[in-house]
Amino acid sequence: MSGIGTLPWLLAIAHDRLHPPPDPKPDLTNRTILITGANTGVGFEAALKFVSLNASRVILAVRSLSKGETARTEIEKRTGRKGVVEVWALEMGDYASIKDFVGRVEREVERLDVAVLNAGVAKLGFEAGQYGWEGTLQVNTLSTALLALLLLPKLRASRTADSTPVLELVSSGNHTQVQINPSAHTAPSPLEVYNSPTAYDGLAQYSISKLFLQFFQTGLVRHLGASVQQAGVEVVTICPGATKSELARGDLPLALRVFQKVFYYVLMKPTEQGARTYVGGVELKGRGHGGFFRYGRVDEPAPTLTGPENEKLQEKVWEDILRILRKDVPEVDGVLASVAAATSEEGRSKD
Ligand SMILES: NC(=O)c1ccc[n+]([C@@H]2O[C@H](COP(=O)([O-])OP(=O)(O)OC[C@H]3O[C@@H](n4cnc5c(N)ncnc54)[C@H](OP(=O)(O)O)[C@@H]3O)[C@@H](O)[C@H]2O)c1
Repeated sequence: MSGIGTLPWLLAIAHDRLHPPPDPKPDLTNRTILITGANTGVGFEAALKFVSLNASRVILAVRSLSKGETARTEIEKRTGRKGVVEVWALEMGDYASIKDFVGRVEREVERLDVAVLNAGVAKLGFEAGQYGWEGTLQVNTLSTALLALLLLPKLRASRTADSTPVLELVSSGNHTQVQINPSAHTAPSPLEVYNSPTAYDGLAQYSISKLFLQFFQTGLVRHLGASVQQAGVEVVTICPGATKSELARGDLPLALRVFQKVFYYVLMKPTEQGARTYVGGVELKGRGHGGFFRYGRVDEPAPTLTGPENEKLQEKVWEDILRILRKDVPEVDGVLASVAAATSEEGRSKD
């Protein structure tokens, strides 16, 4: 696999298959949970678990309402719980849709306990979206960052003395091993370095999109505050591990398709097992803030995130993401400013 050493990558997948994550079963009574990309794959299985664990309201944020309705019917059939699942429209490739979605959350959700930003893609070929960004960077990094930022006010307003809302950003363990293009360190815009159709490598791009999401999390936590008490929300990145799903879509030649099917069925773990991490991430009680959660534990930061060079790159990527987003969604700055003002106000009132 380009961008990542093949052997460590295969070993991580085999390890995952042999050691499924723990299967926590917290009682989610009275919790409202939204999950993006919940019509299929790990998102669907996670939604099914949230409903089974008694969540009072579970919002499936999907780009195809008909696929969302099919998912809702299946969850209701399998859990026997009706009136819990709602299907809301969200197209992650379109900022207007993201803003509409957040507006609806603001209006129609009294309190939001958990937001799972799970929708993601792994595009084999270069496809630019409507803002000129390659599709994997657009959905996995830029739009996920935008949705996270715009949901912050509702999440932070939902905290109580006993509970802190959780923002789960679905990342990937691939971020720990990806080789960073040296130009990203020196170029004014690291994201631009990965927006070139000529140098495109779909598998490396996926890993980089998740590394940049990790960099976003670091910047966000720095902005919000290093403790959940300061931040008012627990921001954790999570990884389901190598899991059967529809992620590897796209037109492959027949021989590769056969290889892919065999690879999937032999090495990837069942989708339900991947979704366990999404449930575990809800119950970290502050331990996950700023961390990366998988295999039932919060990992130490990977070498790709540490050291002076990568830390400098993190700051550049954070600024780059904000610069790119504010061009089309200037509201981003207002959200960040209001969070900073609220944090310093709370700090003052504690003095
Ligand atoms: N499976 C793994 O081994 C693995 C490992 C590590 C991390 N992950 C991460 O886990 C998350 C879920 O992936 P998965 O494996 O479950 O893949 P999946 O089965 O392909 O599910 C992806 C979901 O994202 C939705 N989505 C994609 N583009 C979207 C857009 N523009 N707007 C709104 N929704 C969009 C898809 O909707 P449609 O069905 O309508 O396309 C689908 O519901 C992703 O973030 C992925 O990177 C997966």
